[in-house]
Amino acid sequence: MRIGALTLQSNLFLSPLAGYTNLPFRLVVREIGGVGLCTTDLVNARSLLEKNKNAFKLIETRPADSPLAVQLFGSVPEEMRDAAAKLESLGFASVDINMGCPVRKVCNVGGGSAMMSELAKTAALVRGMVNAVKIPVTAKMRLGWDDDNLTAPDLAHALEDAGIAAIFVHGRTRQQGFGGTVSLAGIRAVVQAVKNIPVIGNGDVITPQAAKKMLDETGCAGVSIGRGAFYNPWIFQHTLEYLNGARLWSQTQPQHAGNCEAAAAGASHTAALPSDVALPPEPTFAERVRVMCRHLDLMIEVFGEEPGCRMSRKIAPWYAKRFGPCHEFNKRVVQVSTRAGFHEVLENYTRWRQQFLDANGELQPRFRPPPLVVSFMREEPASTQGEQIPVPKGPVEVW
Ligand SMILES: Cc1cc2nc3c(=O)[nH]c(=O)nc-3n(C[C@H](O)[C@H](O)[C@H](O)COP(=O)(O)O)c2cc1C
Repeated sequence: MRIGALTLQSNLFLSPLAGYTNLPFRLVVREIGGVGLCTTDLVNARSLLEKNKNAFKLIETRPADSPLAVQLFGSVPEEMRDAAAKLESLGFASVDINMGCPVRKVCNVGGGSAMMSELAKTAALVRGMVNAVKIPVTAKMRLGWDDDNLTAPDLAHALEDAGIAAIFVHGRTRQQGFGGTVSLAGIRAVVQAVKNIPVIGNGDVITPQAAKKMLDETGCAGVSIGRGAFYNPWIFQHTLEYLNGARLWSQTQPQHAGNCEAAAAGASHTAALPSDVALPPEPTFAERVRVMCRHLDLMIEVFGEEPGCRMSRKIAPWYAKRFGPCHEFNKRVVQVSTRAGFHEVLENYTRWRQQFLDANGELQPRFRPPPLVVSFMREEPASTQGEQIPVPKGPVEVW
């Protein structure tokens, strides 16, 4: 797929997750494969221009970490413009603008002409950036403030006119935070509001089937994955394989309706897919451990041994969510500060975990972790099914 002049290997994107989507994690995801474009954590435009050390650490990259977008945060047009130009001169592939809920003030007073002026202001900021660089400038937003103020379609339309190259939209309102259901209809409304640019859907995609459903039912051009990637860095490769399998299968069907027609009809092909459109197998315990250790090594390489290990204390428990019983691991891993200490914890845990395995070395069924629930694929009330994907703490207002 293409975003402006940029050609991507796939239509799957890594969403920015402040504090998580740093260079080591991006390299982990890219080594597994399947991702088309990664984005950095959000970076303050002014800090970048002031050559702030922390801001530069956030954009640290290397050739294997390509193509890479930097997400900028800021509201002063000149600063955003100059920061975009700086990023272009440093060789980044694109610039994304964080618009968590850009028309917040306007939504609070109920829209009207004030909304139009706010939109005009945002569009002017975007135009300034677009005119200053050749690389694509994209925007990431939510659906709006609340269900009565779904401003994303109007904003997307105005931004397309201002030259934005793509829109990323998380299918929830600001008021929802991370609760409730991702609205596929809300994402579809944004898709329908633009003429030519790609819209990339986002929110709660934690399985390949969820990615397919979002693509089919919204007509979006791609899917962006945040927490699902942290929980399961294999998700891009697995989704790509699944989508390719589904595409090959649908080409053999006599009356296949394309995505747009299906989206217009609100239809999904998911139910019709035969079971031989197989999901790639879940990674084994050994593979999860291998990737977790690679992640740690990269954290140490990029941040130094003690800081890298300290930062990994919040990373390792995400891998452990699929280990089966893991409290013995989690309890100890949050105390490690050396690589050797980490491996000692892991070895002790691997021995302890054997009590939960069967004769083939697989987790006995009753110890297997429950499936995660995709909000927009839930058929029963939330309380009767598996778990929701966890939400790390942080400033939701800017996400
Ligand atoms: C810990 C955390 C940090 C986030 N940081 C950012 C950020 O820096 N910029 C941004 O636009 N969105 C941020 N988000 C929002 C995600 O990019 C994404 O829109 C949201 O998590 C929904 O997608 P998901 O269900 O695939 O995670 C963050 C979300 C979380 C949970």
